[in-house]
Parts: sequence; structure tokens; C-alpha cells
Amino acid sequence: SQEEAPSTDLITLTRHVLSEGFRLGPAATGDLTLLLNAIQTTSKFIATNVRRARLINLVGLAGETNVQGEEQKKLDVLSNDIMVNSLRASGKTAVLVSEELEEAVIIDEKNRGKYCVVFDPLDGSSNIDAGVNIGTIFGIYHVKGENKGSVDDVLRPGREMVAAGYVMYGSSCNLVLSTGNGVNGYTLDPSLGEFILTHPDIKVPSRGKIYSINEGNSMYYHEPVLKYLSSIKNPPSGKSPYSARYIGSMVADVHRTLLYGGIFCYPNDKKSKSGKLRLLYEAFPMAYLTEQAGGVATTGTKRILDIEPKNIHERCSVFLGSKEDVQDLIKFYEGSA
Ligand code: AHG
Ligand code: MN
Ligand code: MN
Ligand code: MN
Repeated sequence: SQEEAPSTDLITLTRHVLSEGFRLGPAATGDLTLLLNAIQTTSKFIATNVRRARLINLVGLAGETNVQGEEQKKLDVLSNDIMVNSLRASGKTAVLVSEELEEAVIIDEKNRGKYCVVFDPLDGSSNIDAGVNIGTIFGIYHVKGENKGSVDDVLRPGREMVAAGYVMYGSSCNLVLSTGNGVNGYTLDPSLGEFILTHPDIKVPSRGKIYSINEGNSMYYHEPVLKYLSSIKNPPSGKSPYSARYIGSMVADVHRTLLYGGIFCYPNDKKSKSGKLRLLYEAFPMAYLTEQAGGVATTGTKRILDIEPKNIHERCSVFLGSKEDVQDLIKFYEGSA
């Protein structure tokens, strides 16, 4: 059989984002393109460090605790520093919020731009030392009006984001991005150092066969979650139960959910009253991508993207994924299932 020749028309992330910019016409200043370029570069840099972590003594703890009371890993701190430096230097940002920094960073006048970036520099820290998939999550707002940039510019509902995405450091390095016009996935070609469009227009299947939750917390779960889980594990006769998949890195669990369908859950419960995942830089970007891919993202009782944040590190309950699966879950909250 004849092998197919390699493509001679590579759609790189930069090319793709530029063409989207052109589509915006005169409204596009190119600033978002440049900002996304900075994020691309940081991703490649973090990817390289993740890949070599064991070899260059980057595994293990950094010795400090972050504002959430978590012990920071060396890679958490390094990734945070890489992102802050690069985003500041891009000249396109006004406000930065990171999981690893207690306060929002307000960019000095000399470097100031019009965008605010909220990010989780390294997601899935507990998986680092075992070499399991980890990631970076980000969301982007435009400052309000002609603002210089203040914390108010990021205390806004996720639906006001102009772009969101994540990078997954796994068997390959994948960047998944939405600028409000669907979702596209790119794979890093390490020999070129470029992200190539490999997953155009990602749509989450309307129903899946997988559920993803840390079921070890069952004893704390509220009734609707327990009943929903029971319904998918004990379906009416003739139907197959759902399969369980839980990696413990939100990026990896959401990535699989977007591609294969199903439901990802991190509910609030009797122990964690607001859940675990952070609203600004975990729930919002992932909810934005899920909706852009045709899925649903809810707290169980409310659309995630409609939440008005009160503080930058607040948490929220998360259920997201295939439309029909998440709607089934919502019925248990409404008491109508
Ligand atoms: P982070 O490593 O950025 O602190 O995030 C960890 C999060 C998220 O990636 C994952 O979905 C969740 O924590 C896993 O939590 P459990 O270990 O409680 O299941
Ligand atoms: Mn953490
Ligand atoms: Mn995280
Ligand atoms: Mn993190």
C-alpha cells in the first residue's frame, strides 16, 4: 500500500490565530495575537522543563505553601515565574492572577497593555513526580473601557472572557484554545517547536460513556451527586454502566471529556463547602471551552460562566461535559429525575 505524503501546508497556531484576527477586520489590533504568542512560548518552555524534570532536579517540593494552603512543588513555582515574566514582558497585559500568588499582579505602566490573564501555571501538581499528565490553564479578559487595570477587571463572570485555553503536557504537548469562535486543538511538533493544528473545531459528543470524579470522597457527597452516580452505574437493564476514568489533573480529565464525551465532576460536598477547584483560573476557562465545544458546565444549580466572583481565589462546584450527561445530572439537583 502506498503511504500518504506528509502535509506541505502546516497550519501553525500563529498562522491560525492571525487568520482569526484578520477575520475580525479593523477591530483586531494584533494585541491578542501577540499575547497568545507569549503564552505559546511559555508553554513550550514549561513543556521542556516538565519533560526534563527528573533529570534537572525539578521534582519535589519547593518548601513554601501557597495561599490555598497547598505545598508548592518546584515546578509550580518555576512555571508561575516563567508565566509572570513572559506575560509582563509581552507588554499586552494589565492584571495577572495566578494560583500561586496571593495577590493579583498589577503591571507597571511601562509594560502595561489591555489584557488580564488568570492562570493556573501548573495543574495537577500531585501527578508531577509520577510523570502523569499535567497542564497549564488560562483565561483572558480585556480591561474594562480604558482602565489601567485593577482587580475589578478580573472579578467578572467567565462569559466575559475573550479567550481561554489550556496546555496539556502528556504523551504529546497539546494546546487547546478558544477565542470565542469554537475550540481548536494544536499539537507541539518538537522538531519544529511549533504548535500545529491537529484538532480543528472540537465538539464534545452530545453523550458519552465515561464519568470522572474522585469517588473516594463519596462519604461527603450531597444526595443529588450520589443519586446521579448510582443512576449511571446501575442503568436500566439492557444498558451498560458508565466507565470510570479519573486522572486527578483537571487538564487531562477535561481534555479526555472534550474528545470522548462524558462528564467530569468536582462537586462541593459536606466537607468542602465550595468544592475544590478555583473559579477564576480552573472552572471559568474550562467552562468557556466546554460551552464553546457545545457542552454544558454547571455548579449543579447554576451556569458556571454566570458566577460573579467576589475574590480571586474563590472555589466552586464543577460539572462539565456532554450536554445530555450534564443535563441528566442537573435533573437530580432539580429533584426532577
Ligand atoms: P493544582 O495541581 O493546580 O492545585 O490543581 C489540582 C486540582 C485539579 O487538577 C484536579 O482536578 C483536582 O485538583 C484533583 O483533586 P483530588 O486530588 O482531590 O481529586
Ligand atoms: Mn495547587
Ligand atoms: Mn489546578
Ligand atoms: Mn496548579
